[in-house]
Amino acid sequence: MKQEDYIITSSGVKMPKMIYGTAWKKERTTALVESALRCGFWGIDTACQPKHYSEALVGEGLLNMQHEGVKREDIFIQTKFTPVSGQDPKKIPYDPQAPLEEQVRKSFAVSKQNLYTDYIDSLVLHSPYTVFGDLMKVWHTMESFVQKNEVGQLGISNCYSLEVLQDLYTHSEIKPAILQNRFHAKTEYDKEIRQWCDTHQVIYQSFWTLTANPEILLSETLDALSIKYDKSPAQIWFAFLRENHIVPLVGTSSAQHMLEDLRSLDLHLLADDLKQIHTLL
Ligand SMILES: NC(=O)c1ccc[n+]([C@@H]2O[C@H](COP(=O)([O-])OP(=O)(O)OC[C@H]3O[C@@H](n4cnc5c(N)ncnc54)[C@H](OP(=O)(O)O)[C@@H]3O)[C@@H](O)[C@H]2O)c1
Repeated sequence: MKQEDYIITSSGVKMPKMIYGTAWKKERTTALVESALRCGFWGIDTACQPKHYSEALVGEGLLNMQHEGVKREDIFIQTKFTPVSGQDPKKIPYDPQAPLEEQVRKSFAVSKQNLYTDYIDSLVLHSPYTVFGDLMKVWHTMESFVQKNEVGQLGISNCYSLEVLQDLYTHSEIKPAILQNRFHAKTEYDKEIRQWCDTHQVIYQSFWTLTANPEILLSETLDALSIKYDKSPAQIWFAFLRENHIVPLVGTSSAQHMLEDLRSLDLHLLADDLKQIHTLL
């Protein structure tokens, strides 16, 4: 990836503008992480949540690639602390009865072990707690990892309330550097939240970017632009998102799609074409 394919976040972390997502890959996780790095992805998203992610197999893939000469410091590793409510009760990677602070510390220790590293570039709280005090207990514990230089930046996911995000921002010592949310029509594409993020240097990471938006990808507008630029609708969509400061998580299992998606980083759409896509949101 070229220098311009990265963002320096508010925490000073070098984050790729497109990140490979490893959810639901099961036993194929290791091979797909290796394939993603070979194709040119330098950012990997996972979670300490065995229900949906095989974090240990992500670690195997990263280790294999390091044996092939890839440097750890060149890879952006993002993982998550998942509250009890998001875990499979039979596979919780920490004691669910323990105080919240201990749950976070244990989960983080498991992540570091799974990923063969002492340093996580980006640690994300998988979802907010209903009780704000609980959210802050967890956040302050996550902050302590940054203070010890074990984590580069913090983020939050599945936060669809601007109020909660603002409260977190106000009461935290280390501000969220990223917000990872589902990007779709039902939440009006988080328009208000994204506007706030833009003015507070919080980078918006999107998921369900392709799967939740078939009406856009199959629209006449994207079809026409696809012909005009000789690119796939997905590439046009990714180029549009990049212009809107959105970092997509890409969940493909196909090397062809990995290469195609990464090539969208070089695609620049004309202002009038960006405006046309805007009308679809
Ligand atoms: N924070 C959270 O709660 C949360 C929730 C969900 C996901 N995530 C993260 O987001 C990542 C991405 O997941 P997603 O659900 O958002 O997946 P996605 O990237 O929206 O969709 C992937 C699906 O689209 C298909 N596809 C078709 N054309 C493609 C193309 N050009 N490029 C990529 N995929 C293409 C893929 O099929 P092929 O395999 O055939 O390409 C695959 O079935 C996850 O792995 C995870 O890391 C986070």
